[in-house]
Amino acid sequence: MKIIRTLYDMTEFRIRQRDLGLSVGFVPTMGALHEGHLSLVDKAVKENQVTVVSLFVNPTQFNNPEDFEKYPRTEEEDFKKLAAAGVDAVFAPLAEEIYPEGAPEPKTYELGSAAEVMEGKYRPGHFQGVARILDILFRLVDPHRAYFGEKDFQQIAVVRNLLKSEGLKVEIVACPIKRAPDGLALSSRNTRLSDEQRKLAPEIYQTLKYSVEYSKDHSVMATHDTVVERLDAIPGMRVEYFEIVDARTLQPVDEWSESDWIVGCITVFLGDVRLIDNIAYRLPN
Ligand code: PAJ
Repeated sequence: MKIIRTLYDMTEFRIRQRDLGLSVGFVPTMGALHEGHLSLVDKAVKENQVTVVSLFVNPTQFNNPEDFEKYPRTEEEDFKKLAAAGVDAVFAPLAEEIYPEGAPEPKTYELGSAAEVMEGKYRPGHFQGVARILDILFRLVDPHRAYFGEKDFQQIAVVRNLLKSEGLKVEIVACPIKRAPDGLALSSRNTRLSDEQRKLAPEIYQTLKYSVEYSKDHSVMATHDTVVERLDAIPGMRVEYFEIVDARTLQPVDEWSESDWIVGCITVFLGDVRLIDNIAYRLPN
């Protein structure tokens, strides 16, 4: 497995693959890899002749500087996991080269109304930062396919809008959420939970699952409220937002009949650790 640190070497690698006519799969990550990331990597390795994974804790998408500083960094272990998974190249650039000092002000990306709600509302600037790094990475790696996890459900919709507005041709492959045996969605941030918090965290998914049953004979509003009330009643847990939305537009729905694809997206604070998850209430046939 090749470890690439510079933009120059990444470009050279990509040109070589293109000359050979090989299909390229790309998995962008911020490292601290777990089985969730690796499920995307496995799929990319199966479906492409060449797989590139990026590891970059992207400062521009963190609206909270402390969250950025505390973000886990485990590069050497990540490299080992990726080599074992059969990855061809890891792109782990230096921040100085991605965001050189004195560079012109970044442009504002057109990300549509999907970027205005939920994460867009609670983490101002977050999706502009995600768009900025993915614009750089997509142009550099120039993949045929890029793999994203449904854990960040809204991110996938925003990335689709970014590709459209930037005229980039990349096939987006959405991959299901990987969970711990107790249901907690795997996340790099889980390592920051205390033992006590880790014991409580599975309640998020258990409550979402319960609410899918509940939704069968209750309104959208009642389903929403039951989730928030149950989780807020757990000591140390605070729901930041829970929204029941159309899965394509990410806009809130009032009635179950409004769409054939409806998901509930939640963000919960356990102490100062912010966890996200989501569940489908309606799925298209
Ligand atoms: P990161 O949080 O490292 O996640 C990288 C990819 O792994 C994302 O597509 C995310 O949805 C997916 N992922 C994380 N946990 C998962 C799980 N439990 N099951 C399935 N997939 C999971 O998302 C980002 O990084 C960044 O915003 C990035 C796109 C790299 C831009 O900086």
